[in-house]
Amino acid sequence: MKILLIGSGGREHALAWKISQSPLCTFLFIAPGNPGTAALGTNVNIDPTDFAGIADLCRKEDIGMVVVGPEAPLVLGITDTFRNSDLAHIKVIGPSASASRLEGSKAFAKRFMRKYQVPTAGYLEVTAASVEEGIAFLHQMDPPYVLKADGLAAGKGVLIIPDREEAVTQLRAMLDGMFGTASEKVVIEEFLDGTEFSVFALTDGHTWVLLPEAKDYKRIGEKDTGPNTGGMGAVSPVPFADSAMMAKVTKKIVEPTIRGIEDEGMDYTGFVFFGLISVKGEPYVIEYNCRLGDPETEAILPRLEDDLVSLLLAAADGKLSGLKTTFSPFASATVVMVSGGYPGDYRKGLPVSGIPADGDTLVFHAGTSLSNEQLVTNGGRVLAVTTTDMDFRKAVQRSLETADRITYEGKYYRRDIGNDL
Ligand code: AMP
Ligand code: GLY
Repeated sequence: MKILLIGSGGREHALAWKISQSPLCTFLFIAPGNPGTAALGTNVNIDPTDFAGIADLCRKEDIGMVVVGPEAPLVLGITDTFRNSDLAHIKVIGPSASASRLEGSKAFAKRFMRKYQVPTAGYLEVTAASVEEGIAFLHQMDPPYVLKADGLAAGKGVLIIPDREEAVTQLRAMLDGMFGTASEKVVIEEFLDGTEFSVFALTDGHTWVLLPEAKDYKRIGEKDTGPNTGGMGAVSPVPFADSAMMAKVTKKIVEPTIRGIEDEGMDYTGFVFFGLISVKGEPYVIEYNCRLGDPETEAILPRLEDDLVSLLLAAADGKLSGLKTTFSPFASATVVMVSGGYPGDYRKGLPVSGIPADGDTLVFHAGTSLSNEQLVTNGGRVLAVTTTDMDFRKAVQRSLETADRITYEGKYYRRDIGNDL
């Protein structure tokens, strides 16, 4: 089967790496891909939100399955575009626009969790018309205060504020357009104090299989300091997500979520990313995403022993029931190498060298491009270096050794990935 993968980051390079290993994949296209995916398939220069361009390619190349990496095309309705056209026979991995609201609208996700009794922080939905209620709610709560823009805000829409007066000011500013239309509605949440981790399921909208879980490191600085980023590293498995914890996650979170998806009649074939927090040993949902995580994908796929394409086909055909996934007992550790200045301003186009041609470390491209055959930086997150090892500390160490050998001006990465575990 010919497969088209949508996206261009480290997550998509890892997906391309895994998909291209499957005997079921006869040809892999990546739109638009990056220099890393070019070694595994054929990059086609089409934007992930250019649905007409994507549909044309599918017709011309007789694509059998489309795997959607990032959230933007899902929230904009790429799946619906296929379903409602002459391309309805193509298997699309990714939920409909309506179902993608689980990620695209925090208020929608909270209502869903409340309805299906999925453990999550207490909350109130506020608009400009109900700002006084919002302020009263803040007065009932203990600090810190969690304010979330309802819509997608490029990962910046969550404010955690220690002071109540400041929270009131920021609430008004959000409703006033701090994040454009994304913050016309704000969710005020109870603060949960615990340790975060991520769980991933592949579902056909009725049943599911689990993928390996991971913990990611979001802050730019070591010991989790400084501003949030797209992700500075990840490890899998997560030592505290032991079998007792995973049994709770399955029963209290994954099962009711999939039941809710089914009861709501959502068109949901794809990944569910559960952003969780463990509070005194009990898991709560911080957020849902309707796609895989980045950089978590770069850490979890090397541990998945099954043929991913075969799992994706089963999901698309509604045949996941009875399937079991198997994970390597080895641990994997991903270190993300970023541009100097990220997540603020940074330079692009800086020559990259020293990527090992072989060896047992995987170097996934996240933000690179080719300039006259020279690999150059092309984003904030440049490379994601993954190693697997029996001992996760050794995996981190070996990823760091590879990162040390790669050079570009201003390179930066955290050396403390996994140190807290
Ligand atoms: P979100 O975009 O909802 O994942 O939120 C971004 C980050 O804010 C999360 O990864 C958490 O670190 C933090 N966060 C969000 N909601 C809460 C909460 N209710 N309590 C504590 N921290 C939170
Ligand atoms: N690593 C977090 C995310 O992909 O949203």
